[in-house]
Amino acid sequence: MPNVTISTDARPRLVTTAIELRDAVAAARADGKTIGLAPTMGALHGGHLSLVRASLAQCDYTIVTIFVNPTQFGPHEDLGEYPRTLETDLDALSQCGVDLVFAPTNDGIYPKGFSTYVDPPRVAEALEGQCRRGHFRGVTTVVLKLFNLAQADVAFFGQKDYQQSLVIRWMVQDLDFPIEVRVCPTVREPDGLAMSSRNRYLSQPEREQALTLWRSLKLAVELFAQGESDAERITARMRELFEQTNINRVDYVALADPETLQPVHQIQASTVALVAAYVGDTRLIDNCRIGNDE
Ligand code: PAF
Repeated sequence: MPNVTISTDARPRLVTTAIELRDAVAAARADGKTIGLAPTMGALHGGHLSLVRASLAQCDYTIVTIFVNPTQFGPHEDLGEYPRTLETDLDALSQCGVDLVFAPTNDGIYPKGFSTYVDPPRVAEALEGQCRRGHFRGVTTVVLKLFNLAQADVAFFGQKDYQQSLVIRWMVQDLDFPIEVRVCPTVREPDGLAMSSRNRYLSQPEREQALTLWRSLKLAVELFAQGESDAERITARMRELFEQTNINRVDYVALADPETLQPVHQIQASTVALVAAYVGDTRLIDNCRIGNDE
């Protein structure tokens, strides 16, 4: 007998139009199923798959969206290079048992003449909002569109994009959108690097340098555990780590209120530490709760 491996993992159903998506959702609803949504830009990694698994565990019908959203990229950002890996993404999702993948075209989401945007909530103004002008306007607009299309009960986002999850929570609350937002923990490589689609841009030496983000967050956690609570002293120590590893473009090293993202002077267990820096040409972000060592 020839040695043949037969895969039993069925690929999820792939749809690309709003009508197909709405029909599939209507059928799932008619069967009385609860619907979970994991919005992504593809190039899936373990972080995305954790959102998918959370949805599979908590909802009857799981939809993953894959759309590299142009409106959330600035003019000099990596929209052109952003990895588009639909085939491997579908393979990864086959192994999870996802019900539906929605991968619309640009014109499907932003048809000719499109001009309506969602003005993001106040929490979008700090940090990423300062460094990536217009970014959250693109995020809120596309996420609201995906929410409207998928009509899900629950949407899953990663804590890795801490500010994004706050922005979406506020948007849902302010606009009375009937969906529950659940935030899943950051998934890390064994050495601590937060999983990100952009990690694939890193060369080997950059991959080593990139660990500085996580190390700086751990340092903040350690200093707090040792009794330090002065935010200025802690951020100074965190910044030293970036200098020592020759990371010169640091967008922010912040200790902030976990709900408003306003800077704090004296930190406490609930304070969130957030960092954003360029490693080579790759912009990475990471965060953690000060009183909650992962
Ligand atoms: O987090 C992301 O991947 C994107 O910002 C999202 C939520 C899919 C919107 O394009």
